[in-house]
Amino acid sequence: MTYTSRNDLSDHIRKQASALLQARLSDALDLEAQAKQAHWNVKGPHFLQLHELFDRVHDEIEQFVDLLAERITALGHIADGRVTTTASATTLYGYPLEAQGGAAHCQALAASLGAFGKLVRAAIDQADSIGDADTADLFTQLSRETDKQLWFVEAHLQAH
Ligand SMILES: [Fe+2]
Repeated sequence: MTYTSRNDLSDHIRKQASALLQARLSDALDLEAQAKQAHWNVKGPHFLQLHELFDRVHDEIEQFVDLLAERITALGHIADGRVTTTASATTLYGYPLEAQGGAAHCQALAASLGAFGKLVRAAIDQADSIGDADTADLFTQLSRETDKQLWFVEAHLQAH
């Protein structure tokens, strides 16, 4: 449903942009949970550093979730953050339950950050073509920050 609004974007644009935002919201909610999974379960010689890094990644993604959801509601639509919706709609890789060491968790989280970054980067142009420059700007912000988080995680996999 679309709430009526004084927002000057057309109902059609608001509906299309909200669907795009909702797709990435489900991915972001999955990614947020994956970062906590890594935070809780990592073991090994760099435990404390990675434990803290994964929590910082989680906190960044939590902000993405809020930005995405509140853009949907600002456009007059319902943000669906239900766990059941997230589970059925996410397009990210499933997180490996058996991951133990730092490298395994970094690889799993880097794979998901990379996949999410690709989707969000594509969403910039998709939002532009819909005619919603503000949503495109939001995706640009998320894309840039996802690249940074991916760098932090991947740095632990490089120069070994
Ligand atoms: Fe914690």
